[in-house]
Amino acid sequence: MNRKDFITKAALGSASIAVLNQPFRSFGAHHEQPRGELGNFEPIENVRIGVVGVGNRGSSLLKQLLRLENCQVTGVCDLIEARVERGQRWVMEAGQDKPKGYSRGEYDYRRMYEDGNCDLVLVMTPWEWHGPMCVDSMKAGIHVTTEVPGVQTIDECWELVELSEKTGKHCMCMENYCYSREIMTVYNLIQQGLFGDPLHIYAGYQKEALYYNFNADGTLSFAGKGVVDHWGNVYASHFAGPAAQWLGVNRGDAFDYLVSMGVWGKSYQLYAKRFFGDEHPFAKNPPMMADVSNTMIATKKGKSLSLIHDTRLPRPYRHYFRLQAGNGIYEHTERRVHIGGHSPGDWSVPRGLVDRKTGERTRVRSPRREWEPLSNYFEKYQHVDWKEKGELAKTSGHGGGDYVMLYRLVKSMNRGDYPDIDVYDLGAWSCILEASEESARNRSKAVDVPDFTRGKWEHRQPLVTYLT
Ligand SMILES: NC(=O)c1ccc[n+]([C@@H]2O[C@H](COP(=O)([O-])OP(=O)(O)OC[C@H]3O[C@@H](n4cnc5c(N)ncnc54)[C@H](O)[C@@H]3O)[C@@H](O)[C@H]2O)c1
Repeated sequence: MNRKDFITKAALGSASIAVLNQPFRSFGAHHEQPRGELGNFEPIENVRIGVVGVGNRGSSLLKQLLRLENCQVTGVCDLIEARVERGQRWVMEAGQDKPKGYSRGEYDYRRMYEDGNCDLVLVMTPWEWHGPMCVDSMKAGIHVTTEVPGVQTIDECWELVELSEKTGKHCMCMENYCYSREIMTVYNLIQQGLFGDPLHIYAGYQKEALYYNFNADGTLSFAGKGVVDHWGNVYASHFAGPAAQWLGVNRGDAFDYLVSMGVWGKSYQLYAKRFFGDEHPFAKNPPMMADVSNTMIATKKGKSLSLIHDTRLPRPYRHYFRLQAGNGIYEHTERRVHIGGHSPGDWSVPRGLVDRKTGERTRVRSPRREWEPLSNYFEKYQHVDWKEKGELAKTSGHGGGDYVMLYRLVKSMNRGDYPDIDVYDLGAWSCILEASEESARNRSKAVDVPDFTRGKWEHRQPLVTYLT
């Protein structure tokens, strides 16, 4: 069995089994030989795109793709023929030629890759397929981007890094949370120096999403299976992605080590009993898995990131990002910010210090720091794509982030830019799954996070193209 077949087979079992059966190695020492540099996209006037997996997410992104210029959908692949036909119909209704359809089984996507009609493939299938489909795409000479949460194992991350460097094909993550107006504005404010050094981020993906884990007959969906037996963070990229970009991970800084805790959960048992009755297997034998996962990651430059994955307990939707920096703070839930020297409240004179001779406290009258809406900064600091395409983006999912993400992907390929998110980012965000699992299963011991850039993070510059 060759390495690819092995990874494919391992990944196609159960995601959790794939992870738990991995021998843990010294992550940092992996794959030492010198590597190539990744370059820009070759400019492509009209990007030919193949889509794999046109279920819930794939349908939604396909519809957004069809609103974009300078690209064309040339291939539609899914296990379910009716979904392929529906996708083909949408493409034709948008005025494009009929794309070729592929629905002859689990590996028919390879036929699409081999047909040579695509410059880029979007992988929007269940988690266990992300790795194998990305590997095969680059081997076929096609750029590829995978849905969140990226890939499942650290070995897969390394394989993708090596392949991307070897083939010169980009392998990216479609992390749509990086593309909301607010997240991009904050990135720009950091780059322009208003915040000072970003020092700590608290980010939580917190919504009740058990509906996504169960099928109507009480069996588990791919996402449901993907969390069984997990104590670590199985879905990190939604909040690790934007946070890593703000912190400059892989571009001047890098993840160093993490600790994780996730100990016990009741959600599957309670849900199964409530909706499927006492005879449901989970009603009697609930799986060992954490309902809430807490992970803290330290960066090599001494910054910290606190990640919460909390999608199974009852709660109204709340998505947290809190950035704390040398000169300010941003809170995403309230979309509010305080930036020293810009926001109301003057702290240019220190208040309330003790005079060591008199023992008195200095009482300098100065207004307290106050919050202001982040929107005060949109006019000057929002991303140019939001300025120009904000109206069009508004109707797409995730606050418009879906549209801007795809728009920027196609635009960067048209222009021959470097992608916003590359294979090193995909690796850094994906590997949290396996590394946090290792920590959580070992009384929260510290686990090294692999450096997929192999030291290049120190000299890689912030993405200029991300701001244009
Ligand atoms: N970024 C986001 O906000 C977001 C939101 C929802 C889902 N997702 C991600 O999107 C991906 C898909 O999720 P979904 O909700 O659309 O699932 P889904 O089950 O609705 O769709 C998956 C589709 O992939 C097809 N498929 C499965 N194996 C295949 C194979 N071997 N070849 C071709 N097609 C195959 C299925 O037939 C199905 O149509 C997941 O990775 C999920 O995490 C991301």
